[in-house]
Amino acid sequence: MQINNSRYASDEFPAYTPEVAVKTQSIFDRLRGVLPDIEWPVHAPYVAAINELKSELNAVILAHNYQTPEIFHGVADITGDSLALAQQAARTDADVIVLCGVHFMAETAKLLSPEKTVLIPDSQAGCSLASSITPDDVRLLRQRYPGVPVVTYVNTSAGVKAESDICCTSANAVEVVESLGVARVIFLPDEFLGRYVAGQTKVEVILWKGHCEVHERFTAEDVRHYKQQFHDIEVLAHPECPPDVLAEVDFVGSTAGMIKHLNDSSSRRVVMITECSMSDNVAVEFPKIEFIRPCNLCPHMKRITLPKILRSLQTMEHKIEIDPSIAEKARRAVERMVAIGRRD
Ligand code: 13P
Ligand code: SF4
Repeated sequence: MQINNSRYASDEFPAYTPEVAVKTQSIFDRLRGVLPDIEWPVHAPYVAAINELKSELNAVILAHNYQTPEIFHGVADITGDSLALAQQAARTDADVIVLCGVHFMAETAKLLSPEKTVLIPDSQAGCSLASSITPDDVRLLRQRYPGVPVVTYVNTSAGVKAESDICCTSANAVEVVESLGVARVIFLPDEFLGRYVAGQTKVEVILWKGHCEVHERFTAEDVRHYKQQFHDIEVLAHPECPPDVLAEVDFVGSTAGMIKHLNDSSSRRVVMITECSMSDNVAVEFPKIEFIRPCNLCPHMKRITLPKILRSLQTMEHKIEIDPSIAEKARRAVERMVAIGRRD
């Protein structure tokens, strides 16, 4: 579907008019303290235009917790971790899903909502884990370990999912591994998440050496530094971090797991060892907590911007298409995971 709407011509920079200021005031109020005030006149016209076009098109915007605050709080209808986005993609009755995250997330949404138009605002938004493994690699592993089931992190291509028995996210990896009722699994492709899972279960876990380029950069020394500098600090970390980092922190969980943990925690000072937009987004919801903000940025997540989201809605680009023979097998692996749900 091509939208021909001159108000939103892509080469036109939308203006910060008094009307836009009024329409976006409540969003701006929420973002005070997270976004510098001086940035708002740049973001606000896009926020207003996206929200208007979104309802004209019956589109829904799903945004991962690592999206920037002006996207997360400004235009997203549904936010969450990889598992929540997959679950919501399966439930929505919108005609169009715009996935503000990375490519594997948009593919997962398409697998679960094949009849809907699923768009990603930048088709180059990849992931170092997804690019660490190919379908051929999985076939070779199956030959090497005959009969051993393959559990695949959702941070993979549809082609890799299609070669797998079941998917998992960081929110349910242990449950998924144990659901198979076997003594041994092949766990792909995140070595560190796999090691974390191995420490939580009696099931033997055969690992692959894929890493997240954001989380692998954190060190145990970083954690010790925060704890020495702030004696009352609570340290939360994502399980994609190296094992020596996880050994020193107070809580390990998916991005949504960390938010849930904060809801139940009495901590007044927190550091989240994960991608940097996470603390900005969460700080809006927890004004009483002081967040110390390490900044390891995911360059793939940051390819998604407000102008690209607007353009995506105007042009219906970039559409996610998956070869039906791959999609059918990949969907089975994702649906098996969704049926298990979440742990944290
Ligand atoms: P979750 O949000 O599922 O914890 O995943 C983190 C991540 O790195 C996604 O790219
Ligand atoms: Fe991939 Fe890591 Fe970026 Fe998530 S944060 S998209 S796992 S590279």
